[in-house]
Amino acid sequence: MNTNGIREEGNNTMESLISLCKRRGFIFQGSEIYGGLAGTWDYGPLGVALKNNIKKIWWKRFVEDRDDMYGVDAALLMNPRTWEASGHVAGFADPLVEDIKTKRRFRADHLLEDAGVDVKGMTLADMDAKIKEKGLKSPDGNALGPVRQFNMMFKTNIGATEDGSSISYLRPETAQGMFVNFKNILDTFHPKLSFGMAQIGKAFRNEIAPRDFLFRAREFEQMEIEYFVNPKDWEKTFEHFRTEVLAFTQDIGLTDKKVHELEVAEADRAFYSKRTIDFEFDFPFGKKELYGLAYRTDYDLKQHAEFSKVDLSYFDEESKERFVPHCIEPSFGLDRTVLAVLADAYQEDEMKSEDGTSEKRVFLKLAPSVAPYRVAVFPLLKNKPVLVEKAEEVYKMLKKEFAARGLGAVTFDDNGNIGKRYRRQDEIGTPYCVTVDFDTIEKGTGVTVRDRDSGKQERVKIEELVAYLNKSQIA
Ligand code: GAP
Repeated sequence: MNTNGIREEGNNTMESLISLCKRRGFIFQGSEIYGGLAGTWDYGPLGVALKNNIKKIWWKRFVEDRDDMYGVDAALLMNPRTWEASGHVAGFADPLVEDIKTKRRFRADHLLEDAGVDVKGMTLADMDAKIKEKGLKSPDGNALGPVRQFNMMFKTNIGATEDGSSISYLRPETAQGMFVNFKNILDTFHPKLSFGMAQIGKAFRNEIAPRDFLFRAREFEQMEIEYFVNPKDWEKTFEHFRTEVLAFTQDIGLTDKKVHELEVAEADRAFYSKRTIDFEFDFPFGKKELYGLAYRTDYDLKQHAEFSKVDLSYFDEESKERFVPHCIEPSFGLDRTVLAVLADAYQEDEMKSEDGTSEKRVFLKLAPSVAPYRVAVFPLLKNKPVLVEKAEEVYKMLKKEFAARGLGAVTFDDNGNIGKRYRRQDEIGTPYCVTVDFDTIEKGTGVTVRDRDSGKQERVKIEELVAYLNKSQIA
């Protein structure tokens, strides 16, 4: 493990990716000028553009294109009773061990995994025994204390007093913001089962060991759905969302064969879940959880009904039955999605330069649907006003067409020579570069369009450019 919290496996790719993200303005270390704050990351202009594209695709698939989904944006701070009802106060914990000399704390399961132990289904006592049996030491070489539970919620105080009555928590998942609004949706929209609620927002977890860049952060975003059904329908709904999760991974261009489904064994499921599938992804540091799909039963609504004393049941007009709906939850980590998309897109190859020599190149093979810019427009030479003027005209025309129709962002670049501009756009994953040259002006033969992945160039008439780029940019 190095200072970025990156494991040795996939180290090179991760280091190169982190460096590209910083160099090109995708993602920076949180509070960098103060030496950073572990487990936090700040998105720069290109990172925000990429992340917003992912959010848009998710919201379109799961909310806008459906008639049975209600979007919400609940407060991050919630009444602390929420977290008693949900079980987070009592049980949202990770196994922790302390270095008895330095007092540094580590995830017991991570230390065991790093030592080649499969921790699935292990209790705290099992972990303790295994650490002793293997004679494991802390990464600083000292003996370890006993394994114990560490609650991962960030505590905070509401208002001017700091006594126990003012304690609240930063939400560790967006899910509960939907369960507590279930009745509001029933009362205002009167939906019939089955229906769902969807939300995108921040979640906070005091991870003992944040690591692997965006993979395990202390502040991150989730995109979650709580979908309510008659219990008899849970299996077909679960199957529906299983295929929808996979379809979403295709929307954002993830390589199919890098996405895997794992049926989670009972001993490893969250206590409220009767069935869970983890969607794992081949990250550079190994196959790890990307998303989860869980059958949460009626656990949450029942708990909130009991703790709030508010009736959260549903009356089915057809069957004349009253019952508490059951819930299927597809849960997506947004930052993990950004990481998967970037890691999947990161490529290095050799490309022929203008002078015929070969040059190493780094590029992001992003799907056009998520790329921060869909098209970059250049004048061949910066110091020829006639080229610059025409390039600006083309840029404005594309910007108007693309922005107005939601087809993605367009950028203008006249810095450095053309080769440098291609490299720069390749590195940020822009699928197409459009260049205005002398033939554009003198012969009226249109512009050149260069393809990021093959480096091939085609001449396209300006009046056919929008149609050409649209046709070539199937997400
Ligand atoms: N509401 C269910 C829930 O929160 P979870 O498996 O704890 O379930 C859901 O989290 C998703 O949130 C994960 O699959 C992952 O994508 C993302 N996630 C969880 N912890 C994270 C962390 N520390 N940093 C980044 N993403 C995280």
